[in-house]
Amino acid sequence: MLTEHELHSSLADPSLAVMSFLNEATLRFPDAISLAAGRPYEGFFALDRINDYLSHYLEHAREQGRDEAAITRELFQYGPTAGTIRELIARMLLKDEGLVAAPQDVVVTAGCQEALLIVLRALFADAEDVLLVPSPSYTGVTGAALLLDVSVEPVPEGPAGLEPAQVRATVERLRAAGRRPRALYLVPEASNPTGSSLSLPARRELLAVAKEYDILLLEDHAYAVFSPAGSPPALKALDTDRRVIHIGTFAKSGFPGLRIGYLVADQLIRRADGSTRPLSAALADVKSMVTVNTSPITQAVAGGMLLRHGLSLRAANTEAAAFYRANLRTAAAALAERFGSSGLPVSWNEPDRGFFMVVTVPFEVDDAALEASARDYGVLWTPMRYFQAAGAERQLRLSVSYLTPEQVRQGVHRLADFIEDRCAVPRYEEVDSLVA
Ligand SMILES: Cc1ncc(COP(=O)(O)O)c(C=O)c1O
Repeated sequence: MLTEHELHSSLADPSLAVMSFLNEATLRFPDAISLAAGRPYEGFFALDRINDYLSHYLEHAREQGRDEAAITRELFQYGPTAGTIRELIARMLLKDEGLVAAPQDVVVTAGCQEALLIVLRALFADAEDVLLVPSPSYTGVTGAALLLDVSVEPVPEGPAGLEPAQVRATVERLRAAGRRPRALYLVPEASNPTGSSLSLPARRELLAVAKEYDILLLEDHAYAVFSPAGSPPALKALDTDRRVIHIGTFAKSGFPGLRIGYLVADQLIRRADGSTRPLSAALADVKSMVTVNTSPITQAVAGGMLLRHGLSLRAANTEAAAFYRANLRTAAAALAERFGSSGLPVSWNEPDRGFFMVVTVPFEVDDAALEASARDYGVLWTPMRYFQAAGAERQLRLSVSYLTPEQVRQGVHRLADFIEDRCAVPRYEEVDSLVA
């Protein structure tokens, strides 16, 4: 028997169990339509693609003049810690994002999650160091911080997402209290959970704030491939001062089963003796103690996918981006149909990219509400309180990525039935006044 208080504090933290709770709810209500899962649409999966991508990679390796023994060793043996497809990723980033990254500044990771973990491990040295995260925030980063005992400070988002003025105010408040804000994590493009994207002026202003207060920006670019042409550039593509660590993943732009992500870190570390060392090399050393190296087999599949699509993940995702955008429109149209002129205080945002949107309702949105919605109305969604969103007790996140357009429409109508019925239940104070 182990005693909980003798184990790491994260084990008793309810936020660590959020993913399991959602998975469990999905299993318990298999017939419910899931507007909760931030998973890619499975209609884009096909077994023969894995072979196809692998063949492209092998062909490319042979064209590079590598012999069968070398290629065999690459796929079967332990590989370089920083990855085998750094150059292909660097070329993709240039093509897709206009982001100039030297291959040696790229580290291939086991998903974005490992990238977050190793970056936090490296940057956060003592108890005064603070990681800023938007509120609401992606649970992957707050979960990694929890595991590493990294202090997190939420920065409340405005209607258009993270606001540089709020970042500035939070940094100043923390500094005045003797803390050291070290980095700000953000998803500037099609954020999870709100779906919001930052304007170009906001991005520039955040870079200026980062420079002024000497903090790093951890840019999570998980959903950027779904953004329409003409969207503002990645923070890293605007970064002239090495303020940004760019983090990407093939989970949404390829498929999650690959478990491939990457980071771009072009910063240098100054050592005590005055010499310097690339941060990317130090991060690779940290990684070596987490996953040793990322699977060379799945790297080859991911690399083959890039090669197959002319080194453009955006090109590989043209159909998917249009599909998800149409699903977002379908969800917004169904909400408008039900609540546009209902007189009920129900509102929602209308992101035009990514997987997510947020609905605000006039009642408490908690586990019990989710359970009732799944059991009695056959629809799952995610309470916004799971994303550490202060003041979001009456909000829920819809994910439109996993479903066909018809399922999205049906799911939103089921949700609307649930919301309408909840609104019709008299609140306690009303019941009290009726009794009185
Ligand atoms: C903001 C964000 N980053 C990253 C990921 C994916 O992480 P990984 O590459 O570890 O699957 C997700 C998936 O939900 C996400 O929402």
